Amino acid sequence: MKRTHHCAQLTKADLHATVSLAGWVDSVRDHGGIIFVDLRDRQGVTQVKFDSSLREEAAKLKDESVIGIRGKVELRPTDMVNKNLPTGEIEVDATELEVHNISETPPFPLDDAGGDKVNEDLRLTYRYLDLRRPKMRKNLAVRHRATKSVRDYFDAQGFYEVETPVLFKSTPEGAREYLVPSRIHAGQFYALSQSPQQFKQILMVAGVEKYFQIARCFRDEDLRADRQMEFTQIDVEVSFIDREGIYALFEGMLKKVWKDVLDHDLPTPFPRMAYNEAMNRYGVDKPDTRFGIELVDFSDTFKASGFKVFQSTIASGGCVKAINAKGLADATQGEISSLEDSAKTMGAKGLAYIKVEKGEWKSPIVKFFTDAEKAELTQRLAIEDGDLICFAAAPWDRACAILGRVRLDAAQLLVKRGKLTLRPDQWNFLWVVDFPLMSYDEERGGYAATHHPFTAPVPEDAHLLDSDPKAVRGQHYDVVLNGMELGGGSIRIHQPTLQEKVFTDVLKIPADVVESRFGYMLKAFKFGAPPHGGIAFGLDRMCALLCGTTSIRDVIAFPKTQKAQDLMNQSPTPVTEKQLRDLHIKVVDEAK
Ligand code: AMO
Ligand code: AMP
Repeated sequence: MKRTHHCAQLTKADLHATVSLAGWVDSVRDHGGIIFVDLRDRQGVTQVKFDSSLREEAAKLKDESVIGIRGKVELRPTDMVNKNLPTGEIEVDATELEVHNISETPPFPLDDAGGDKVNEDLRLTYRYLDLRRPKMRKNLAVRHRATKSVRDYFDAQGFYEVETPVLFKSTPEGAREYLVPSRIHAGQFYALSQSPQQFKQILMVAGVEKYFQIARCFRDEDLRADRQMEFTQIDVEVSFIDREGIYALFEGMLKKVWKDVLDHDLPTPFPRMAYNEAMNRYGVDKPDTRFGIELVDFSDTFKASGFKVFQSTIASGGCVKAINAKGLADATQGEISSLEDSAKTMGAKGLAYIKVEKGEWKSPIVKFFTDAEKAELTQRLAIEDGDLICFAAAPWDRACAILGRVRLDAAQLLVKRGKLTLRPDQWNFLWVVDFPLMSYDEERGGYAATHHPFTAPVPEDAHLLDSDPKAVRGQHYDVVLNGMELGGGSIRIHQPTLQEKVFTDVLKIPADVVESRFGYMLKAFKFGAPPHGGIAFGLDRMCALLCGTTSIRDVIAFPKTQKAQDLMNQSPTPVTEKQLRDLHIKVVDEAK
C-alpha cells in the first residue's frame, strides 16, 4: 500500500479521491459501531473512519500502533468539523487496513502537556517515544532548518566546509578531555577534540581562507542545562579579516537564521559592550540586558563608613556595590536566605540588604549610615517604597560576580510575582568586546589566557605584554543573547615569535612542553601564516533559544543526563577483559 499523501495534506479539494495514508494511531474512539482513528505522521493528523467490515479489526488497534490505510476522502458532518486542524473538514472512509505493528501501552502520554509532566529520565529512557511528541518533533525540525540555513549562508559567502579530526592530541590546558587509548601505540592516547581550534588555524596556513564546519566537540565538564559533554559548534575561521569583519559576518548569519526559522527580522548591527562595562553594570560578561537592576558603585560614598565591613573593604582596595531589586521588599525570609546562599557561592561573606517599607529602611546596617549616605543611595538607586537593596563589599571582580548572580536571582523572584516579564522572544543580542587577554589565577599564581592562548592582543596594548599582562586587552569577542553566551572567538596571533612569547614569557609554559604540544603549530606559522580570526557558536544553545527552551537537552536528539549517562542504551558500560588487554589498560578497583 504505497502512501499517496501525508496526514496534514488532505482537504475539501480532495473530496472523493482514493488515497493511502500511513502512520501511528494517535487515538481510537468507538462511536456506537463506527470506529474513528486519528492517524498521525510527522506532518499531522487525519481522521479515519472504519464502519465497514474493517470495524472489528480497527477496534483492536492500540494507541501508537503503526498502520496503513486506503480509503475515500469524505466531508465530515458539519458538527464534527475541527477548525483547528488543516484536515479538520474531511475524514477518510477506510476500505483497506494494513497493520504493521501493534504497540504496547506507552509509559507516558505522548502529547505535549502529558509528556511535560513526567520525569525527564523516563522521557530519556524512551527517547524514541518522547521524540514523537509534537513539541520535540518541532524542535528537531527547527534544528534541521537552522543548520541548513547556516550551511547555505556560508556556502553563499564562499566558505568551504572542512571536516577536522575528532581524534586529536591531548591539550590539557583547556577543559578536561576524553582520552582514547591507542591499541597500536601501547600507553599512548588520543583526546577527543574539544574544538577544531588548532586545525582551523592550520587550515588558514593551508590557504583555505574561509572555513566553516558544523563540528562535534567533546568536553568532560559538569553537565548543566546549557552544557553537554558532546555538543555542536558552528565553527568558523577566516583569513585577512578583522574584528569588524567577523561582527558583520556573524550578524549576517544570525539575521538569516532568524528569518529562515522564525520569519523574524533581527535588527543589526548588534550593540557592543566592553567587558569592563558589562562587569560594572551587570556583574557578568554575559549580561541579560532585558531588564535593569544594574549594579551601582558606592565605593566613594562609603570610604569613611561607620559600617566597618564597607570601610575596611574599600581601604584594602576593594569596592562596595549595590543593586535595587525594585518591588522586592516583600521577599520572604526564605527567599532572602536563598539570595544570600547564591551570593556565598560567588564568594560573598554575607549579603547586607535593606527592605524599604512604608518609608522605613529596615536593616541592621542602616544605623551605620549617615543622612548624606542615605541621600546618595536614594538618588543613585532611585529608591522607593517596596524596594530591596542588596550590597556586596569585596574585591572588584568578586563584588561584580556576587551582585551579578543576586541580580539574576532577584529577577526570577520578580518574575514569579508577575512584577517583571522576561520574554524569551525579545532578542537582545550583544557583542561583548575588549576582554583582558590574560587573567591572573590566584590559585596557580600565574596568568591564564582569558579565551585561549592563540588570541591576539589589541595592537595598541601589545607593548604591555611584558610589563603588565593584565592591562592588555585581547582581540576577543563573545556573542551574548539574553544572558547566555552563544559564541566566542578572536583574531589570532599569526606571528610565530609572538605566539612563542605568549606561551613562554606570559603563560610560563616550559619550553619543552611548548614544543611537544604546540611545536607543529609554531612550525606551520613559519611557512607563511596569513593574519586570521574566527569564532565558534554553540549550535545547541542557539537552537534552544530558537525553540524557546532553556535546556539544550530539548534540542539534542539523544542527549546525556546530568550524570553523563545515556539512559536509553545505558552507556557508559564496563567492557570485556580482552578489550582492555588489547588497549593495554588495567582497571584498578580503588576500593580495594
Ligand atoms: P568556546 O570554548 O567559547 O570557544 O566555545 C564556543 C561556544 O561553544 C558552546 N559551548 C557549549 N555548548 C554546549 N555544551 C558545552 N559543554 C559547551 N561548551 C561550549 C558555547 C560557546 O560559546 N575554539 C574556540 C572558538 C574560537 O576561538 O574560534 C571555542 O571553542 O556556545
Ligand atoms: P555583620 O555586622 O558582620 O553581622 O554584617 C551585617 C550584614 O552585612 C549581614 O547581613 C551580613 O550578611 C552582611 N555582610 C557581611 N560581609 C559583607 C560583605 N563583604 N558584603 C556585603 N554584605 C556583607
